[in-house]
Amino acid sequence: MLGYAGKVRSLTTIVHEYITNSLDACEEAGILPEIEVRVKELAENKYSVYVHDNGPGIPYKHVGKALASVLTGTKFHRYMQQRGQQGIGAGGCTIFALITTGKGVHVKSSTGKEAYSCDLSIDIKGNKPLVNNVEQLKPEFRGLIVEGEFGDVKYEKSEHGVYEYVRRTALSNPHISIKLVEPDGNEAVFPRSVKTMPRRPRQILPHPLGISASDLLDFAHTSESRKITSFLVDSFSRVTHDKVRELIEIAKDVDFEKAPKQLTWEDATKIVNAFKHVKWIGPELDAMSTIGEQQVEIAMRNIIDPKFISVVERKPQVFKGGVPFVVEVGIAYGGKAGRANGEQVSGNVLRFANKVPLLFDTGSCAITEAVQGIDWKRYSIAKFDEEPVSVLVNVSSVYIPYSGVGKQAIAQEDEIVEEIKLAVQDAGRKLQRFLSGERHRSVQESGYKTIMRYVSQLAADLEEITGRKKEETERELKTLIEKKYKSLFKEETEEAQSAS
Ligand SMILES: Nc1ncnc2c1ncn2[C@@H]1O[C@H](COP(=O)(O)OP(=O)(O)O)[C@@H](O)[C@H]1O
Ligand SMILES: [Mg+2]
Repeated sequence: MLGYAGKVRSLTTIVHEYITNSLDACEEAGILPEIEVRVKELAENKYSVYVHDNGPGIPYKHVGKALASVLTGTKFHRYMQQRGQQGIGAGGCTIFALITTGKGVHVKSSTGKEAYSCDLSIDIKGNKPLVNNVEQLKPEFRGLIVEGEFGDVKYEKSEHGVYEYVRRTALSNPHISIKLVEPDGNEAVFPRSVKTMPRRPRQILPHPLGISASDLLDFAHTSESRKITSFLVDSFSRVTHDKVRELIEIAKDVDFEKAPKQLTWEDATKIVNAFKHVKWIGPELDAMSTIGEQQVEIAMRNIIDPKFISVVERKPQVFKGGVPFVVEVGIAYGGKAGRANGEQVSGNVLRFANKVPLLFDTGSCAITEAVQGIDWKRYSIAKFDEEPVSVLVNVSSVYIPYSGVGKQAIAQEDEIVEEIKLAVQDAGRKLQRFLSGERHRSVQESGYKTIMRYVSQLAADLEEITGRKKEETERELKTLIEKKYKSLFKEETEEAQSAS
């Protein structure tokens, strides 16, 4: 099962599935998300997970299909930048509960007008939802509550654990308010940093160049079109009847007149291959929703509380000749930036794809490759591994090319790696200016302090030799020294200006 390898990872995956669903549902309904997550230890490697959101809830008639069957997500056939396309969904969690504890999950849902609770399980052989113990409730709460018990999982406060996942979700979604109650009772609260909803990404039809054979099959098998020719024109952006004629020329042995439901894997492979040999107009660019420059800054300030931040949002670019993407970077220095290991602190990279934190498969990710390729010395960071620095990178796209089935790393496409590098370098230059200012200041400061230590003694000695009043000499010397080091005194404001 995707994402369910390793006890810590499994628990993070479960929380990830529920949180992404909550965020998608809230945003779709135009509600500022408020989420509470509780994780309790029940026995060794056995935990309960509770997630409550203030979203629209799920109508009773859909709940079985939504949370207790797999691959029925409503976002599956939509081509829009959303989180739901990542992972195997809520049904996967129900199956995981079932096979590790023998029990399904418990759900409470309220639209604010109607509310119910029920137990959900799955007939795994038939992928059929089983809904039991349905009870009507008073609609005294709002949204969805999912509770389940999971075996073969483990809570750990590491780079890969639930706490870090929640913290990073708060970083990339400053409009949400999220609380995590950890197994030891500790409550981690990440309050909302901005009160505006992110811009809704516009739904667009997929561009043929971003499509894999399996995507094409999925689209075809749910299509209402009569023939493959019209299916292609209706389902994809930039595909015209002229273009279809070109495709027919290239994929000669595919029958384009049959129903899309009859499309086979071989047909799909041939059509996808033909896509690559046709000249296409690039995709529409405004289908993406980024975190936003200001939002990144506010979130990093609230959560990391650094001495310095620089944020860069680049213009959309395309990769693979056609798929648009946008890179955002925030660098934080000082404060709680970096990763603390006891006394020591090291630089860390916070990776995001469409605002979803990526905690696993670090090594094979375009973001890691790009950040490691940076010559940090040029940005006044002598050793990235020994400085309090956090580099946040978010890649947004309607089609993120993940490098593995777990969808935890972005494929190392040249265009993407290059674009991330440029963005990090941009932000790095501002960091460099800040740090060299800092260093200049600390050299000046120690010079000032050293010389000031001698003033009083020198004035006293001079009084003995010349008879000139000590206080007078001292005052004049101080004025002279302060004049020489005047940058130390007016610098505060100047620095703030150069940093912004
Ligand atoms: N917290 C929630 N609030 C409202 N609807 C939800 C929630 N969680 C899941 N759903 C519904 O259940 C569907 C299935 O979820 P899921 O299996 O995770 O697929 P996906 O997220 O890819 O759509 C969602 O598409 C959504 O319609
Ligand atoms: Mg989902």
